[in-house]
Amino acid sequence: MGKKVLAVYFTQSGQTKAILDQFLKPVIADGNEVEFLQIRPVQPFPFPWPIPDFFDTVPESVNVIPTALAPWQTGLVKYDLVILGWQPWNLSPSIPFNSILQDEQFKVLIKGTPVITLSGCRNMWINAQEKNKKLLHNAGAKLVGNIVLADRHPNHLSYFTIFHWLGTGRKDRKWGIFPKPGVSDKDIAGASKFGNIVSSYLRIMNFDRMQEDLVRAGAAPVKYSLMFIERKAGKIFQKWVNIINKHPRKRKSILVAYKYYLAIALLVASPVILTVDLLLFRPFSQKKIRRQMNYYRGVEYKERI
Ligand SMILES: Cc1cc2nc3c(=O)[nH]c(=O)nc-3n(C[C@H](O)[C@H](O)[C@H](O)COP(=O)(O)O)c2cc1C
Repeated sequence: MGKKVLAVYFTQSGQTKAILDQFLKPVIADGNEVEFLQIRPVQPFPFPWPIPDFFDTVPESVNVIPTALAPWQTGLVKYDLVILGWQPWNLSPSIPFNSILQDEQFKVLIKGTPVITLSGCRNMWINAQEKNKKLLHNAGAKLVGNIVLADRHPNHLSYFTIFHWLGTGRKDRKWGIFPKPGVSDKDIAGASKFGNIVSSYLRIMNFDRMQEDLVRAGAAPVKYSLMFIERKAGKIFQKWVNIINKHPRKRKSILVAYKYYLAIALLVASPVILTVDLLLFRPFSQKKIRRQMNYYRGVEYKERI
């Protein structure tokens, strides 16, 4: 018998929904019933983004502070599986997504239910996923799968192209020369291979080994250099937000300083720090690195890693 699946998502450009649709094709073809629920903030976030508005999301996303959502309802009170289509903002769950995860009505709906997170991002998602794991844990949901699609271009390139995309709303080549931003059309189309794997586990309603299979198919790409930057940056972002919390009246000017800090940290400092790490530290911490990378690929939640 077909299973009942709820597909929850937030999207601005449509990328997350496009990934979700491709992912769900085999699930629907297998005879399962899929219901969609779109997350809608009462105060919509702009798209395309004016730069100050973009950086103004930093404090609330980093501190996982929800925004009010428009009333919503679902056809059923319980589902066999819930798919969560989300995206990282500032190394944290996007504000609309953190809001649904903290919504009391939603927490009741997903309590005790197997949940799969599915995202389309630039390339830094592991900090945000740790925050998701914690929120899902608090809601009593069972995270059984995680699938991430990312921009495969080098970090420096995608930093420029994502601002072009999010700032203009056009997912095309900046100046006609840069690569296309975001998740590639090929990877979006390829999301169905993950849907195939999920479908086979949905048939038996036992997801115990599913994430291993998904990882083998490339569902949770963890790259050492990005993990290294993200682990450091996550802590530094939190420090900036702590300063803003202490001086709320200076929020705007602190965020302008943060904007310049971010560009320098990502484009100039991180390659230098990575080189030092490669020469002095990395060769001696192979075991620890392997353990960390495996943890981030998985669905287990630990307070400290
Ligand atoms: C405010 C903001 C912050 C973002 N921060 C990150 C980030 O930390 N890591 C990342 O990989 N992508 C980041 N992105 C890209 C998004 O995760 C996502 O890929 C993009 O916004 C498209 O999603 P959509 O389906 O909502 O259009 C950010 C986007 C926005 C708007």
